[in-house]
Amino acid sequence: MADSVMNPKMNPDLSNPELLAALDAKRQAVVETLGLACELLPSVSFASSLGAEDMVLTEIILKAHLPIRIFSLDTGRLPPETYDLIGEIERHYGHRIELYLPEREAVEAYVRKFGVNGFYASLEARHACCGLRKLEPLRRALAGQAAWITGQRAAQSITRARLPIREWDAEHGLEKLNPLADWSEREVWGFIRLHRVPYNRLHDRGYPSIGCAPCTRAISVGEDVRAGRWWWEDAGNRECGLHRQTPAVSH
Ligand code: ADX
Ligand code: SF4
Repeated sequence: MADSVMNPKMNPDLSNPELLAALDAKRQAVVETLGLACELLPSVSFASSLGAEDMVLTEIILKAHLPIRIFSLDTGRLPPETYDLIGEIERHYGHRIELYLPEREAVEAYVRKFGVNGFYASLEARHACCGLRKLEPLRRALAGQAAWITGQRAAQSITRARLPIREWDAEHGLEKLNPLADWSEREVWGFIRLHRVPYNRLHDRGYPSIGCAPCTRAISVGEDVRAGRWWWEDAGNRECGLHRQTPAVSH
């Protein structure tokens, strides 16, 4: 299967002065965007999936000492490598990520109705699972917050092509910041290598995008970076509902 050697974007040339200048300018732009949000808004939270993009943001937020709370939605179905990374973050940064788990009663009711891996059977069953394991915990995590930050990039999929850096999240009723919207995959990995940022080992085994274990598989070289997420569904459906894309650009 693909690994970091087979995907050259994961090992960009760090002696390339253009790349180094771009990384520095983009890091600075992220610090400015997030710093301004922290000055203007009372409470800003970063939702980290612990994927490569989110590790870039973790490094930037913690090294710049920005007053941003970092949380992750622990669906209970994450791969072991993701839990390993949570421990590595604690050791590396001396910082503990807040975890939000699903409601026990909702999980038990789901399993009774659809079965433990019921999400493969229909879109309805898949959305119900993402609803109780991700969307409801996300609502709890965002309650009372003025803004949230995500690690989404426009180039990740057709559903994110028009992703703005800043938008109004009408569904949750708060500002939403996507400070890596204009970053390329090469820049994400250049930043990770340059700053020796910890990352999920599954990325080295052909998983550019990592979610729950049963709904994520490795991809082959040349496949879309999100091709391994809910791979049995149509490409246009492959979102869990955390991010409803808004066509209007507000920055
Ligand atoms: S997803 O919608 O398909 O799951 P993806 O994995 O690409 O999203 O992640 C996009 C962004 O959504 C992440 O950068 C992060 O901000 C947020 N996100 C996704 N999954 C989680 C999670 N388990 N916990 C916290 N935030 C998440
Ligand atoms: Fe459930 Fe899969 Fe969604 Fe995770 S990604 S919440 S296991 S359907």
